[in-house]
Formats: sequence, structure tokens, C-alpha cells
Amino acid sequence: MRPTIAPFPSARPRRARATPAIRALVRETTLAPSDFIWPVFVRDGDGVEEPVPSMPGVVRRSVDLIGAAAKEAYDLGVPAICVFPYTSMEARTEDCAMAWDRDNVANRAIRAIKDAVPDMAVMTDIALDPYNINGHDGFVVDGEIVNDRTVEALVKMALAQAESGADILGPSDMMDGRIGAMRAALEAEGHQKVMILSYAAKFASAFYGPFRDAVGASAALTGDKNTYQIDPGNGREALRMIERDLSEGADMVMVKPGLPYLDICRQVKDMFGAPTFAYQVSGEYAMVQAAAQNGWIDGQKVMLESLMAFKRAGCDGVLTYFAPEAARILNG
Ligand code: PBG
Repeated sequence: MRPTIAPFPSARPRRARATPAIRALVRETTLAPSDFIWPVFVRDGDGVEEPVPSMPGVVRRSVDLIGAAAKEAYDLGVPAICVFPYTSMEARTEDCAMAWDRDNVANRAIRAIKDAVPDMAVMTDIALDPYNINGHDGFVVDGEIVNDRTVEALVKMALAQAESGADILGPSDMMDGRIGAMRAALEAEGHQKVMILSYAAKFASAFYGPFRDAVGASAALTGDKNTYQIDPGNGREALRMIERDLSEGADMVMVKPGLPYLDICRQVKDMFGAPTFAYQVSGEYAMVQAAAQNGWIDGQKVMLESLMAFKRAGCDGVLTYFAPEAARILNG
């Protein structure tokens, strides 16, 4: 649709910007706490709240504290939370067996959140990197990240999370064939209602750096993830991956990182119309916080403006570490 406008002075577009009331009236895009999924980091221990240095304002919480934090966010209007486990170097193994352990820290956190806030939607992350001795999302055999064996492990991981009460599974591994395999296993095991929000268009990005600190993967990671995550130059390929994951049974899709890939968000929404999410990743968060701490930008305003940009680009929601803070501001 082509915008039409009368010639000046019949048209004075500034009339529509003149007062807060008129601006509110004509605003095309709105932001609400219900647009957010809040990613959180959990760890073992008791009463632990440990700052993540490269993500000012973000902490790793022990499982006993996660229910209360989730409840606080839910009461602010944030409908969903996404659980990421921190794993120390010593707890990582080559076989990644902890990934599908019913009692691993992530699965215990799912149950703790469901106990504390039964109505909050709990999302997970599916990938081997928090458990893998070499920090990769898949098994490494002779220096290669192997696909099919990894998918078998991811399916076991998905089932353990579903059994623990997860509402939304988030495969972030970028292996081929994983969505179809997980969907079939969920059907076979009676988890028909469990949703899959596929990290379908996940780029090989340097913006994940602070996250890898947060989950303890930075020290572990050998090499890069370029053989499974999408090359940042490849927008068409990203669209094909979205189509593939939807056709394999994903309910919702994600573009990741967020702001540098808004062009992809817009195309995904326009082309497929599926529930579309973006992940405002750790590096995006860290940049805003670092500049704000230096007094170089107004952190709150940049936060809200960046979140609004996702909505304008067609996203239905955003995974953002800012979720509780942004919700608090939006609630006035
Ligand atoms: C792991 C995973 C990553 C993120 C979410 N899940 C990192 C990676 O792929 O290395 C990144 C999130 C962020 O940077 O905030 N598979």
C-alpha cells in the first residue's frame, strides 16, 4: 500500500504530532508487558544470586529463588519465561548425559516455576552447549559437529523438558531435522499440547558473547558455530529455514539476533504469518547497558525504543532480558 498525502499546506503532518494525546491516538504500534518472554539463568546451590559481569543487571539464580522471580515478572504482566542453565566446567561431559536428566537444573527450575506460577508459560532451550565439554550445540566427533546423533539426544532432552511441565520448547541448536523428530516424539509420548518455538533463523553471531559467559560456555567453546548457524549474509536461506521448521511442525518461529536482523523479521511475518518472535540477545542487551552506565545514552528510552522496533517490524513478541524492567515502566 502506497501512503498518500496532500500537498502542503493542505497537509501539515505535524498536526498529528502536536500533543501527547494526539500522538497516542495515531500511534501505529504499541508495546505491552504481554509482548515479552523473559530469559533467565538458573544454577545449582541455595539462595544464590550471582551477577553476570558482561550483562549488568542480569543474575544467575539458584533454583530455590526462581519461582519468586517468575511470580514477580508474571504479576507485572509478563506471560512467559525461558529457562537457561549455567553449568560449571567440571559438570560438562563429552556425552552430555545431563542434558536429558529429569533432575538437571533446568528441569528442576521448570517444576519450581510451575509450582510457584502455574499460569505462566514456561519455555526452554534445547541444545547441548550448556552440558558439552567443548561448548558446542551438538556432539563433536573428530572435530566435526555431527547432526543425526545430536538430533537423537535433543529429542530425549525435549521429552525430559515436556515431562517436567514445559509449555514451549525452544530448539536453538540448528541441527537439520530436529523439529520433525521432536514433534513426532511429543505426539508418540502424549505431549500433544506442548508447543515448539523454533529458533529457525538463528545466525552465527558475535552478539551471543555475553550469553556464553552467563551459561559458562565461553571457556568451554572450541572454534565457532559456523557449520550449523546461518551466515549473517544469508537472508533468503533464513526464510527457507523458517519454512522448513513450520512444515516440520513448529508452532512459532524465532529470528535471532534481533535488531541487526529486523529485515528478516519483517519478511518472515509477511511471508508466513505465523507467530513470529525475535530474540534481543545478550550482546544487544550488553551494549545498551554499557552505554547507559557511561551516561552516553538514556538506557530506559533506548530499551523501550528498541523493543518497539521489534513490534513495528512485525514481531508478535520479543525475548528480552529487559522484560521485567520494561514491564514495570510500561505499567507506569
Ligand atoms: C545456545 C543458545 C545461545 C543463545 C541462546 N541459546 C548461544 C549460542 O548459540 O552460542 C544466545 C542468547 C543470547 O545471546 O542472549 N544454543
